[in-house]
Amino acid sequence: MYLVTGASGHLGQLVISNLLETHKIPASKIIATTRDPKKLAGLAAKGVNVRAADFDDTANLVEAFKGATRLLLISTDAIDRPGHRIVQHTNAVAAAEKAGVTHVIYTSMPNPDNSPLLLAPDHEATEKALAESKLKGWTLLRNHWYFENLFYSLPHAIKSGTWYTAAGDGKIAHSAREDLAKAAAAALASNESGKKIYTLSGAEARTTAEIAKLVSDAVGKPIAVVQVPVDGLVQGMVGSGMPEVIARVFASFDTNTAAGRVADVTGDYKKLTSNDNTPFTSWLANNKQAFLG
Ligand SMILES: NC(=O)c1ccc[n+]([C@@H]2O[C@H](COP(=O)([O-])OP(=O)(O)OC[C@H]3O[C@@H](n4cnc5c(N)ncnc54)[C@H](OP(=O)(O)O)[C@@H]3O)[C@@H](O)[C@H]2O)c1
Repeated sequence: MYLVTGASGHLGQLVISNLLETHKIPASKIIATTRDPKKLAGLAAKGVNVRAADFDDTANLVEAFKGATRLLLISTDAIDRPGHRIVQHTNAVAAAEKAGVTHVIYTSMPNPDNSPLLLAPDHEATEKALAESKLKGWTLLRNHWYFENLFYSLPHAIKSGTWYTAAGDGKIAHSAREDLAKAAAAALASNESGKKIYTLSGAEARTTAEIAKLVSDAVGKPIAVVQVPVDGLVQGMVGSGMPEVIARVFASFDTNTAAGRVADVTGDYKKLTSNDNTPFTSWLANNKQAFLG
Protein backbone atom coordinates (compact mmCIF):
# COMPACT_ATOMS: atom_id res chain seq x y z
CA MET A 1 0.00 0.00 0.00
CA TYR A 2 1.23 3.46 -0.97
CA LEU A 3 0.31 6.44 1.21
CA VAL A 4 0.46 10.11 0.21
CA THR A 5 0.03 12.81 2.87
CA GLY A 6 -1.14 16.31 1.93
CA ALA A 7 -3.04 14.68 -0.89
CA SER A 8 -5.32 17.65 -1.53
CA GLY A 9 -2.40 20.01 -2.20
CA HIS A 10 -1.00 20.91 -5.62
CA LEU A 11 1.86 18.42 -5.39
CA GLY A 12 -0.16 15.67 -3.68
CA GLN A 13 -2.88 15.71 -6.35
CA LEU A 14 -0.30 15.45 -9.15
CA VAL A 15 1.47 12.58 -7.33
CA ILE A 16 -1.77 10.62 -7.01
CA SER A 17 -2.68 11.06 -10.66
CA ASN A 18 0.83 9.88 -11.58
CA LEU A 19 0.49 6.81 -9.38
CA LEU A 20 -2.82 5.95 -11.02
CA GLU A 21 -2.11 6.89 -14.62
CA THR A 22 1.66 6.45 -15.15
CA HIS A 23 2.48 3.72 -12.65
CA LYS A 24 -0.89 1.96 -13.05
CA ILE A 25 -1.18 1.39 -9.33
CA PRO A 26 -4.74 0.27 -8.56
CA ALA A 27 -6.74 2.87 -6.61
CA SER A 28 -7.38 0.27 -3.90
CA LYS A 29 -3.62 0.17 -3.15
CA ILE A 30 -3.38 3.93 -2.58
CA ILE A 31 -4.11 5.71 0.70
CA ALA A 32 -4.56 9.48 0.39
CA THR A 33 -4.52 11.49 3.62
CA THR A 34 -5.72 15.04 4.17
CA ARG A 35 -6.96 17.13 7.09
CA ASP A 36 -10.30 17.36 5.31
CA PRO A 37 -11.46 14.16 3.56
CA LYS A 38 -14.37 16.06 1.93
CA LYS A 39 -11.77 17.65 -0.38
CA LEU A 40 -10.89 14.19 -1.75
CA ALA A 41 -14.40 12.94 -2.52
CA GLY A 42 -13.39 12.61 -6.20
CA LEU A 43 -10.52 10.26 -5.33
CA ALA A 44 -12.70 8.26 -2.93
CA ALA A 45 -15.20 7.78 -5.77
CA LYS A 46 -12.36 6.29 -7.86
CA GLY A 47 -11.65 3.76 -5.10
CA VAL A 48 -8.67 5.48 -3.43
CA ASN A 49 -8.64 4.99 0.35
CA VAL A 50 -9.15 8.49 1.73
CA ARG A 51 -8.31 9.04 5.40
CA ALA A 52 -8.11 12.02 7.74
CA ALA A 53 -4.63 12.85 9.03
CA ASP A 54 -3.42 16.05 10.65
CA PHE A 55 0.22 16.20 11.75
CA ASP A 56 -0.93 18.42 14.65
CA ASP A 57 -3.25 15.68 15.93
CA THR A 58 -1.00 12.84 17.12
CA ALA A 59 -3.91 10.87 18.60
CA ASN A 60 -5.13 9.80 15.15
CA LEU A 61 -1.94 9.73 13.09
CA VAL A 62 -0.81 6.16 13.74
CA GLU A 63 -4.25 4.81 12.83
CA ALA A 64 -4.25 6.96 9.66
CA PHE A 65 -0.91 5.47 8.54
CA LYS A 66 -1.74 1.81 9.42
CA GLY A 67 -1.42 -0.62 6.52
CA ALA A 68 0.90 1.62 4.47
CA THR A 69 4.19 0.11 3.33
CA ARG A 70 5.64 3.14 1.54
CA LEU A 71 4.66 6.66 2.60
CA LEU A 72 5.25 10.00 0.89
CA LEU A 73 5.52 12.67 3.59
CA ILE A 74 4.76 15.98 1.89
CA SER A 75 6.09 18.89 3.93
CA THR A 76 3.27 21.12 5.23
CA ASP A 77 2.67 24.73 4.32
CA ALA A 78 2.86 26.13 7.87
CA ILE A 79 5.58 28.60 6.87
CA ASP A 80 3.96 31.43 8.81
CA ARG A 81 4.93 29.66 12.07
CA PRO A 82 8.70 29.17 11.74
CA GLY A 83 9.77 25.95 13.42
CA HIS A 84 6.24 24.55 13.75
CA ARG A 85 6.81 22.20 10.83
CA ILE A 86 9.55 20.53 12.85
CA VAL A 87 6.89 19.44 15.36
CA GLN A 88 4.46 18.43 12.60
CA HIS A 89 6.96 16.44 10.56
CA THR A 90 8.52 14.80 13.62
CA ASN A 91 5.01 13.70 14.64
CA ALA A 92 4.52 12.19 11.17
CA VAL A 93 7.85 10.34 11.22
CA ALA A 94 7.11 8.92 14.71
CA ALA A 95 3.62 7.83 13.59
CA ALA A 96 5.01 6.15 10.45
CA GLU A 97 7.45 4.23 12.61
CA LYS A 98 4.70 3.13 15.04
CA ALA A 99 2.34 2.20 12.20
CA GLY A 100 4.92 -0.18 10.71
CA VAL A 101 5.65 1.78 7.53
CA THR A 102 8.76 0.38 5.83
CA HIS A 103 9.96 3.33 3.75
CA VAL A 104 9.27 7.09 4.01
CA ILE A 105 9.90 9.52 1.15
CA TYR A 106 10.19 13.16 2.24
CA THR A 107 9.97 16.40 0.20
CA SER A 108 12.97 18.39 1.43
CA MET A 109 15.00 21.23 -0.16
CA PRO A 110 18.50 21.59 -1.65
CA ASN A 111 21.32 22.09 0.87
CA PRO A 112 19.14 22.34 3.98
CA ASP A 113 22.06 22.25 6.44
CA ASN A 114 23.28 25.55 7.93
CA SER A 115 21.29 27.48 5.35
CA PRO A 116 20.46 31.21 5.48
CA LEU A 117 16.91 30.34 4.34
CA LEU A 118 14.69 30.78 7.39
CA LEU A 119 12.61 27.72 6.40
CA ALA A 120 15.62 25.44 6.06
CA PRO A 121 15.82 24.33 9.72
CA ASP A 122 12.40 22.67 9.27
CA HIS A 123 13.82 20.45 6.53
CA GLU A 124 17.16 19.92 8.27
CA ALA A 125 15.34 18.74 11.42
CA THR A 126 12.97 16.47 9.48
CA GLU A 127 15.87 14.84 7.67
CA LYS A 128 17.53 14.33 11.07
CA ALA A 129 14.33 12.81 12.50
CA LEU A 130 14.30 10.32 9.62
CA ALA A 131 18.00 9.52 10.07
CA GLU A 132 17.46 8.87 13.77
CA SER A 133 14.25 6.86 13.31
CA LYS A 134 14.00 3.11 13.31
CA LEU A 135 12.45 3.10 9.84
CA LYS A 136 14.01 0.51 7.53
CA GLY A 137 14.58 3.06 4.81
CA TRP A 138 13.91 6.58 3.62
CA THR A 139 14.39 8.72 0.53
CA LEU A 140 15.05 12.44 0.69
CA LEU A 141 13.75 14.34 -2.31
CA ARG A 142 15.61 17.63 -2.07
CA ASN A 143 13.22 19.51 -4.34
CA HIS A 144 14.44 22.67 -6.03
CA TRP A 145 12.03 25.62 -6.20
CA TYR A 146 8.96 25.33 -8.40
CA PHE A 147 8.68 27.46 -11.54
CA GLU A 148 5.19 28.09 -10.11
CA ASN A 149 6.71 30.15 -7.26
CA LEU A 150 7.11 32.91 -9.87
CA PHE A 151 3.33 33.34 -9.74
CA TYR A 152 3.83 35.01 -6.34
CA SER A 153 6.41 37.63 -7.31
CA LEU A 154 6.09 38.22 -11.02
CA PRO A 155 2.54 39.46 -11.64
CA HIS A 156 3.35 42.48 -9.46
CA ALA A 157 6.76 42.97 -11.14
CA ILE A 158 5.13 42.77 -14.57
CA LYS A 159 2.49 45.34 -13.59
CA SER A 160 4.97 47.77 -12.04
CA GLY A 161 7.80 47.06 -14.50
CA THR A 162 10.28 46.52 -11.65
CA TRP A 163 11.46 43.33 -9.93
CA TYR A 164 13.19 44.11 -6.65
CA THR A 165 15.59 41.38 -5.55
CA ALA A 166 18.45 40.76 -3.15
CA ALA A 167 19.59 37.62 -4.99
CA GLY A 168 22.44 39.32 -6.87
CA ASP A 169 23.92 37.03 -9.52
CA GLY A 170 22.88 33.90 -7.64
CA LYS A 171 21.33 31.28 -9.91
CA ILE A 172 18.21 29.16 -9.41
CA ALA A 173 17.99 25.66 -10.92
CA HIS A 174 14.20 25.59 -10.58
CA SER A 175 11.84 22.93 -11.88
CA ALA A 176 8.24 22.44 -12.95
CA ARG A 177 6.13 21.32 -9.98
CA GLU A 178 4.71 18.61 -12.20
CA ASP A 179 8.23 17.17 -12.71
CA LEU A 180 8.76 17.08 -8.95
CA ALA A 181 5.44 15.24 -8.60
CA LYS A 182 6.56 12.72 -11.22
CA ALA A 183 9.78 12.19 -9.27
CA ALA A 184 7.89 11.75 -6.00
CA ALA A 185 5.50 9.23 -7.60
CA ALA A 186 8.47 7.35 -9.08
CA ALA A 187 10.22 7.20 -5.70
CA LEU A 188 7.03 6.03 -4.01
CA ALA A 189 6.13 3.42 -6.64
CA SER A 190 9.66 1.97 -6.82
CA ASN A 191 10.85 -0.79 -4.56
CA GLU A 192 14.08 1.07 -3.78
CA SER A 193 15.09 0.42 -0.18
CA GLY A 194 17.84 1.76 2.06
CA LYS A 195 18.71 5.41 2.47
CA LYS A 196 18.80 7.64 -0.60
CA ILE A 197 19.11 11.33 -1.38
CA TYR A 198 18.01 12.87 -4.68
CA THR A 199 18.57 16.58 -5.31
CA LEU A 200 15.92 17.34 -7.90
CA SER A 201 16.84 20.38 -9.98
CA GLY A 202 15.60 21.60 -13.32
CA ALA A 203 17.71 21.38 -16.47
CA GLU A 204 19.22 24.87 -16.23
CA ALA A 205 20.17 27.44 -13.59
CA ARG A 206 19.45 31.12 -14.21
CA THR A 207 19.98 34.45 -12.47
CA THR A 208 17.02 36.67 -11.61
CA ALA A 209 17.98 38.92 -14.55
CA GLU A 210 17.97 35.96 -16.95
CA ILE A 211 14.58 34.77 -15.66
CA ALA A 212 13.20 38.32 -15.96
CA LYS A 213 14.38 38.58 -19.58
CA LEU A 214 12.69 35.30 -20.57
CA VAL A 215 9.43 36.21 -18.81
CA SER A 216 9.53 39.71 -20.23
CA ASP A 217 9.97 38.34 -23.77
CA ALA A 218 7.16 35.81 -23.22
CA VAL A 219 4.59 38.28 -21.89
CA GLY A 220 5.70 41.25 -24.00
CA LYS A 221 6.21 43.62 -21.03
CA PRO A 222 9.47 45.16 -19.78
CA ILE A 223 10.78 44.02 -16.37
CA ALA A 224 13.71 45.95 -14.87
CA VAL A 225 15.60 44.00 -12.21
CA VAL A 226 16.69 46.22 -9.32
CA GLN A 227 19.08 44.84 -6.72
CA VAL A 228 18.32 46.02 -3.17
CA PRO A 229 19.73 45.09 0.25
CA VAL A 230 17.76 42.38 2.09
CA ASP A 231 16.44 44.88 4.66
CA GLY A 232 15.15 47.07 1.83
CA LEU A 233 13.33 44.07 0.39
CA VAL A 234 11.75 43.30 3.78
CA GLN A 235 10.68 46.92 4.28
CA GLY A 236 9.10 46.94 0.80
CA MET A 237 7.04 43.83 1.58
CA VAL A 238 6.04 45.11 5.04
CA GLY A 239 5.07 48.43 3.44
CA SER A 240 2.66 46.62 1.15
CA GLY A 241 0.97 44.96 4.13
CA MET A 242 2.89 41.71 4.66
CA PRO A 243 3.58 40.69 8.28
CA GLU A 244 7.31 41.16 8.98
CA VAL A 245 7.81 37.53 10.02
CA ILE A 246 6.66 36.36 6.58
CA ALA A 247 8.54 39.14 4.75
CA ARG A 248 11.77 37.97 6.42
CA VAL A 249 11.10 34.40 5.34
CA PHE A 250 10.53 35.47 1.71
CA ALA A 251 13.60 37.75 1.71
CA SER A 252 15.75 34.91 3.00
CA PHE A 253 15.05 33.03 -0.25
CA ASP A 254 17.10 35.74 -1.98
CA THR A 255 19.92 35.53 0.59
CA ASN A 256 19.98 31.79 0.00
CA THR A 257 20.07 32.27 -3.78
CA ALA A 258 22.81 34.89 -3.55
CA ALA A 259 24.87 32.38 -1.55
CA GLY A 260 24.71 29.96 -4.50
CA ARG A 261 22.77 27.32 -2.60
CA VAL A 262 20.10 26.59 -5.23
CA ALA A 263 22.30 26.76 -8.32
CA ASP A 264 23.34 23.15 -8.80
CA VAL A 265 21.98 21.36 -11.84
CA THR A 266 21.94 17.66 -11.03
CA GLY A 267 21.00 14.65 -13.12
CA ASP A 268 18.88 13.19 -10.33
CA TYR A 269 15.51 13.87 -11.95
CA LYS A 270 16.45 11.76 -14.95
CA LYS A 271 17.98 9.10 -12.69
CA LEU A 272 14.70 8.74 -10.81
CA THR A 273 12.17 9.12 -13.62
CA SER A 274 14.12 8.35 -16.83
CA ASN A 275 12.54 11.56 -18.20
CA ASP A 276 14.05 14.88 -19.23
CA ASN A 277 13.10 17.97 -17.22
CA THR A 278 10.45 20.30 -18.60
CA PRO A 279 12.42 23.28 -19.99
CA PHE A 280 11.56 26.64 -18.39
CA THR A 281 10.83 28.17 -21.80
CA SER A 282 8.17 25.59 -22.69
CA TRP A 283 6.61 25.85 -19.23
CA LEU A 284 6.57 29.63 -19.70
CA ALA A 285 4.92 29.36 -23.10
CA ASN A 286 2.11 27.32 -21.51
CA ASN A 287 1.72 29.55 -18.46
CA LYS A 288 2.38 33.10 -19.65
CA GLN A 289 -1.29 34.06 -19.50
CA ALA A 290 -1.33 33.38 -15.74
CA PHE A 291 1.30 36.09 -15.24
CA LEU A 292 -0.89 38.70 -16.89
CA GLY A 293 -3.87 38.02 -14.57
N1 LIG B 1 9.90 23.51 -3.78
C1 LIG B 1 9.12 24.59 -3.80
O1 LIG B 1 9.33 25.55 -4.56
C2 LIG B 1 7.92 24.68 -2.89
C3 LIG B 1 7.00 25.71 -3.08
C4 LIG B 1 5.88 25.77 -2.24
C5 LIG B 1 5.73 24.83 -1.25
N2 LIG B 1 6.66 23.84 -1.09
C6 LIG B 1 6.55 22.80 -0.05
O2 LIG B 1 6.05 21.64 -0.68
C7 LIG B 1 4.79 21.27 -0.08
C8 LIG B 1 3.85 20.77 -1.17
O3 LIG B 1 3.70 21.77 -2.14
P1 LIG B 1 2.26 22.13 -2.72
O4 LIG B 1 2.49 22.98 -3.90
O5 LIG B 1 1.44 20.89 -2.82
O6 LIG B 1 1.67 23.02 -1.54
P2 LIG B 1 0.13 23.25 -1.16
O7 LIG B 1 -0.73 23.08 -2.35
O8 LIG B 1 0.08 24.53 -0.41
O9 LIG B 1 -0.17 22.06 -0.17
C9 LIG B 1 0.20 22.14 1.17
C10 LIG B 1 -0.06 20.80 1.79
O10 LIG B 1 0.28 20.83 3.19
C11 LIG B 1 -0.63 19.94 3.82
N3 LIG B 1 -0.77 20.27 5.24
C12 LIG B 1 -0.91 21.50 5.77
N4 LIG B 1 -1.05 21.41 7.12
C13 LIG B 1 -1.02 20.08 7.43
C14 LIG B 1 -1.13 19.35 8.63
N5 LIG B 1 -1.32 19.97 9.81
N6 LIG B 1 -1.05 18.00 8.57
C15 LIG B 1 -0.87 17.36 7.39
N7 LIG B 1 -0.75 18.00 6.19
C16 LIG B 1 -0.84 19.36 6.22
C17 LIG B 1 -1.95 20.15 3.11
O11 LIG B 1 -2.68 18.97 3.21
P3 LIG B 1 -4.27 18.89 3.38
O12 LIG B 1 -4.84 20.26 3.13
O13 LIG B 1 -4.64 17.89 2.35
O14 LIG B 1 -4.46 18.41 4.78
C18 LIG B 1 -1.52 20.43 1.68
O15 LIG B 1 -1.56 19.28 0.89
C19 LIG B 1 4.31 22.55 0.63
O16 LIG B 1 3.45 22.23 1.69
C20 LIG B 1 5.61 23.16 1.08
O17 LIG B 1 6.10 22.54 2.27
C21 LIG B 1 7.74 23.73 -1.90
